[in-house]
Amino acid sequence: MAKPWTPSSWRAAEARQLPAWPDPARAAAVEAEMRSYPPLVFAGEARDLKARLADVAAGRAFLLQGGDCAESFAEFHPNTIRDTFRVILQMAVTLTFASHMPVVKVGRMAGQFAKPRSADMEEQGGVALPSYRGDIVNDIGFDAEARTPDPERQKRAYMQAAATLNLLRALATGGYANLHQVHKWNLDFMARSPWAERYAEVATRIGEALAFMEACGISPETVPQLKGTEFYTSHEALLLGYEEAMTRQDSLTGDWVDTSAHFLWIGDRTRFPGSAHVEFLRGVLNPIGIKCGPSLTPDDLLRLIDTLNPANEPGRLTLISRFGADRVEAHLPALIRAVKREGRHVVWSCDPMHGNTIKSASGLKTRPFERILAEVRQVFAVHRAEGTHAGGIHIEMTGQNVTECTGGAIAVTDETLADRYHTHCDPRLNASQALELAFLLAEELAEARRARPAAAA
Ligand code: PEP
Ligand code: CO
Repeated sequence: MAKPWTPSSWRAAEARQLPAWPDPARAAAVEAEMRSYPPLVFAGEARDLKARLADVAAGRAFLLQGGDCAESFAEFHPNTIRDTFRVILQMAVTLTFASHMPVVKVGRMAGQFAKPRSADMEEQGGVALPSYRGDIVNDIGFDAEARTPDPERQKRAYMQAAATLNLLRALATGGYANLHQVHKWNLDFMARSPWAERYAEVATRIGEALAFMEACGISPETVPQLKGTEFYTSHEALLLGYEEAMTRQDSLTGDWVDTSAHFLWIGDRTRFPGSAHVEFLRGVLNPIGIKCGPSLTPDDLLRLIDTLNPANEPGRLTLISRFGADRVEAHLPALIRAVKREGRHVVWSCDPMHGNTIKSASGLKTRPFERILAEVRQVFAVHRAEGTHAGGIHIEMTGQNVTECTGGAIAVTDETLADRYHTHCDPRLNASQALELAFLLAEELAEARRARPAAAA
C-alpha cells in the first residue's frame, strides 16, 4: 500500500531545485494567500485532456506540446501569446492533414515560469550571485537585489498565467481558430520561407475540402468542432510551494487536482528516486509528463511509472524522451522494451531540444536545427522498429522571429545569433523553424499512416 498522500506530503521528501527564500515565513504567507485564489483550470478539463492523451497512447492521435522555455514578465504581451498560439495551430493542421489523426494541442504557456538550473550560483567577472531561476523566483538582471528570491513574484506569475490563459481560451473558441481562417494564420515575416509556401498549399487544400463539406451540409454551424479548437496548458511543476497552493479538491469527486495547469511535468533533474516532485505529482489527477534523459534506467522508469500511475490508467503518463541526437539509439529502445514488457500504457513524446544544446563560438547557448531534426528522425525510426507509436513532440518555440537556434531554411548562423536573441533561458525555435519541423513530422507521420493496416488508417 502506498503511504497516504496530502498536498504537503512532498515536504518530507528530498526537494531539489527549490529556491532558498531569504524569509521562509514570508513565502509561507504568500502561499497561504494564494490558496484562496481562483483555480486556473478545472478538474473536468484535466480529465478531458487525459482522455485525449489516452487516444495518443493507443496510437490514434498525436500530441503537440510547445512554447517558451521560460515565460517572462518582460515578454508578456498579447501579440506574443497570439503568435505562439498561431504557429501551434499551423503546425497542428499540417500534422492532421498528413497523419489523418487528431492533434492534441498543449502550450508550454500560462505558467511556465520556474527553471531548474545546473548550478546554484552564477559567476560573472569574479562576482558570484544566485542563479536566475525564472521570473516566478527572481530577476534575470545580474545584481544582488535582482537575484534575491522574492516569494511575492509568485502572485505576479499567477496573475500573468490567468490573463494568458484567458486570451488562449478566447483565441481557441472565439473565432480565431475557426478552420476557415487557415490561410490567415501565416505570419508576415514567414512569407520568405519555402515552408510558408508549402503551408499555403496545405491551407488551400484544406479550404477546398471545407468548401466540399459545406456543400454537403457540414459547416461550422452544423459541426461546432470547425469553429474552434481545444487548447490545453502545461508547465514543469517545479516550484512545489506554488503548485501546492494551487491544488484543490474537486467538489464532485473529492479527488485532488493541481489547478495551475492541465498538464504538469517532472524535469530530468527532479525525477530521481525519493524526489519530492514525484511525491507531489503522484497525488493529483492531472495528466503528468516525465522527462527521460540519458541517466534514466529502465528499472528506475518502471518504478516511476508504478508510483505515478499504479492503476495503469491510459493518458495519465507521457514519457518525454530527450537524449540528444547521438544518443537516442543507445537509450530509447531499452526504455520502450521495458514499458512494453510490463504492459504499461504511456504516451511516448520526443523533446528534441534539451539534449542538443551547445555553446556557440560567440558564447551563446544554441541548438543546431539539424541536430533537432536528427533526433526526431531517430526517435521515429526507433518507434518504427519497436512497433510503438511515436506519439508526440515537445518543443521550445515562439511565434516571434528570434535568432536562437542555428540553421533552418532562413538560416540563422553563428554570426547572426545575437541579432534577436531574447530567450530568458534556453534557445527556442522561431516560427519558420517550428513550421519546418512540422513538415518533417508530417512526413514521418504520413509514412507511419501508410504502414498501418488499411482498416486502421
Ligand atoms: C525544460 O523543459 O525546460 C527542461 C529544463 O527540461 P529537462 O528537465 O528535460 O532538462
Ligand atoms: Co528549456
